[in-house]
Order: sequence, then structure tokens, then C-alpha cells
Amino acid sequence: MSDKVSRRQFAKIAGLSAAGMANPVGAVEVNPAPPPRTGTGFPAGFVWGTATSSYQVEGAVNEDGRGASIWDKFVRIPGKIEDGTTGDRANEHYHRYKEDIALIKELGCKAYRFSVAWPRVFPDGDGKPNPKGLDFYNRLVDELLKNGIEPWLTLYHWDLPQSLQDRFGGWRSTETCKIFGDYAAYVAEHLTDRVKNVFTLNESGRFVYFGYGIGIDAPGLTLPQAELNQIRHNSALAHGLAVQAVRAHGRHGTRVGPAENIDACAPAIDTPENVRAAEIALREMNGGYLNVIMTGQYTDAFLKFAGPNAPKYIDAELKIISSPVDFLGLNIYAPQNYVVASDQGAGFMPLPIPKSFPHMNSDWLRVGPETIYWVPKLAAKIWKTDAIYISENGTSGDDVVRPDGKIYDTDRIMYLRNYLAQLQRATSEGVPVRGYFLWSLMDNFEWVYGLNKRFGLYHVNFDTQVRTPKLSASFYRNVIATNAAGV
Ligand code: NOJ
Repeated sequence: MSDKVSRRQFAKIAGLSAAGMANPVGAVEVNPAPPPRTGTGFPAGFVWGTATSSYQVEGAVNEDGRGASIWDKFVRIPGKIEDGTTGDRANEHYHRYKEDIALIKELGCKAYRFSVAWPRVFPDGDGKPNPKGLDFYNRLVDELLKNGIEPWLTLYHWDLPQSLQDRFGGWRSTETCKIFGDYAAYVAEHLTDRVKNVFTLNESGRFVYFGYGIGIDAPGLTLPQAELNQIRHNSALAHGLAVQAVRAHGRHGTRVGPAENIDACAPAIDTPENVRAAEIALREMNGGYLNVIMTGQYTDAFLKFAGPNAPKYIDAELKIISSPVDFLGLNIYAPQNYVVASDQGAGFMPLPIPKSFPHMNSDWLRVGPETIYWVPKLAAKIWKTDAIYISENGTSGDDVVRPDGKIYDTDRIMYLRNYLAQLQRATSEGVPVRGYFLWSLMDNFEWVYGLNKRFGLYHVNFDTQVRTPKLSASFYRNVIATNAAGV
């Protein structure tokens, strides 16, 4: 497509009015979405959403009594963030939340997943709450509801209060787990009159290993395996305590579950033996967190593999960890393990991934759309859940702003179209996936990559804070309007 596409032509291509694209708020629908192609529809009531997290979008790190988080400290260590940026300002969402909610509405999303910054609500992690911090989330939730968007709240998306890191070593101590339970109770008490769905911790699988194992995420430690297994166990315990806190202090009927970057396993070739192997692999590769949450047990293979590094715990902890959840939130981006059946070990063999395997503009973001078919399907079977939500899926892209001011992110559309087609394949077979949260609403602070990796449906100019819909925003809008993939 030429860079010289006119505004009108662009709007036509995108299925939006020109006025709508330039100013998405209050756009007039001139081209109603086409009817879905037969066989591409999602179940009625499927929850379409987008997602962000507090540190990645809020900014305003020193406002209204917010305490410091481990990320505030970490981003200041020279060399840790690729482009030297911080989340100090990020998307200024703390002040621009109304504008951002209008963007969500413009997509037609029925749900928005955001996270509460723990140090905004409890500046030291525990002790005295900061009412002004909580007030922000009251305003946010009210504004969402006013616009017909369901708030889905995440309790922990990595911004641990620095004070807990200083006093207890963060997640190295079960003290932090207990305090997290208290914080969860407080949030549940104050927000679940309006928030009906709560995710506990986001991606234990990442923040434990990256934060405490290889020092890429805050708090930037490189601890030995035994400690890592203990920290992962603690994160599962924190999850369980939060589930119990929401049950005890939330409004009756509040739903709660994890949001985990499940180690994604799929059969390399679709044969009954390999599918069985992928099922075993999914359970074992997630033995340190999801499987123990869902079953209350570490598997024999997990304990054998961990050997002397296995976590230490008492049975009562396993009970807490496996407190029944209402749904399983899965962040699914890329295949991690293509497996085949094996008569060795636990019965599966993960295959090496060739260097030439295609990926998006983040190296780790391999393109394997069938992952979002196999993983929920196998997960539902292994853990007997009847409600799975894709709590994150999406991709970064180059997202060049063309001379006409537009962003033609056909690579993101390709990625989304293929993943959504596979997700639809799953729901059409009765796999109980009930909703999907696209990461992300808008470009934001992408941790170690800083502002360099753009995941948004809306492009953000971080100097001016102008948000511009990418072509993928129109794509997603059509998906939602037709409740169908492949449009
Ligand atoms: C997972 C994380 O939850 C989120 O914070 C991150 O931005 C996305 N993946 C993309 O890497």
C-alpha cells in the first residue's frame, strides 16, 4: 500500500469513517462490519477485551502518595533498560485514563484488564493504606462501567513495593505472601462491589525466573535454582492466599483466578501419541506453578527433576495454594515446546527449535498460531476447568508512522488473524475459552526493552502522548463487531 493513501481511502480500507479514525471518540459507523464467514464465529457472550498493567502505563510514580516499587529502583540501574527509559511517565494513564477508556470503547471491547499498583494503595506494602491511591482505581472502575466496559482487575503485575524487597527480600519470604493476602483482602473489600473478576498474580513464570534467576527484571537478582524453586512456591502460596482473601472479603460471587504465561506445549505433529505427549508435557513443564495450583500437588517427575533443589513446604501450604479458582487465565504468545512422544522419562520429548523458526519483531515471539488451540484444549482436559480466559495475546511490531500519519501494521493483523482463527477452532470444538484480552490497548513501557517494543492497537507518541489507532485497531474492532475470527 502506498504511503500516499488519502484519509478517506484509509478510512474505507479500515472500515471506519475518516472522522472516526482521526478522532476515534464518537466515530460514526458508515461501513457496518460484514457478516462473519460461516464457521468463523465465537460463542455468544464471548468476552472481548484488551489489557495493560499499572507500571507499564500509569506514570505519575511520585503522585498522590504512591510508594516506590522494585521497578522504580531497577530502571535506574544503568544498562538495565535497553533504551534507558523508565515508567516514570509512560502513557500518563494516571491522568489520561478517561481518554484511554474512550479508546477501549471505540474498539467495542466489553472488558478491560488493568492492574492495581500495590504501592499506590499501600506505599510500604503493608501498614497504613493510602486512600488517594485507591481513589484512582475507584475513578477508573467507575469510568469503565459508565462506558459499558467490565473491569477485570489484576492484583499483581510485578510492581512489588520496594519496602517489602528491602525488609523481607520480596518473594523470597513468605512474609511477603501474607502481606499480599492482606492487600488482596483490602482491594477486594473496596472494589468488588463493582469489579466482578480478579486475576491474582500475572506471570509467576516470568517474574520469578527473570527477576530472581537471571536478573533481567526487577529486583535483578541471580539466585541459585533451589531458591528459585522456593520463590516460585511462594508465588503460588501468594496466589492461594489472594484467592482466599477475595473469597472472604470480596462481594459474594466475585470470580478469581491466575493469569499465567503457561509454558506452551503443542504436538509437533498431530498424532494421538504426540497429542498425549503434549498433554503430559504441559502438565510437567508447568509443574512448579499452574499444576500445583490446580491439583494441590507437585508431580513426581517435577520433584525428581528438582532433586535437592525442590521447594520446602508443609501440606497446609499445598491446601492454600490449591484453593479452588473460578477460571484459568492464560497468557499465550508463542510456542515454547513442540513435543513428540517418547518412551523415555515422563513420556515426551521437547524438540529443539530451529534458528530459522519465524518470529515477530521480538525474538522470543515465535509465530505458532496452533499454540492457542492446543494449550487451552489440553489445559482444560488436564485441569478440568470449564472457564479459560486468554488473559494476554498480541505482538510487538515495527509500527512505522507513514508520512500520511497512519500505521499499517499488517504484520500484527496477520499474527492476530491466525491466532484468532485457531482460538475459534478451539471454541468450535467446545474448548471452554470464554474470553480474550488483547495485549495491549496501546504501546507502553515494555520492561527491559523500554519504550522500544510496541504492542499496542493504538500507537503512542511518547513525547506528545498522542494516541493514534493502528490498522490493527480496525481489524480488532471488526472481530468484536462480528464476534468472528478471520474477518
Ligand atoms: C507479558 C506481560 O504480562 C506484559 O507485561 C508484557 O508487556 C507482555 N507479555 C509482552 O511482552
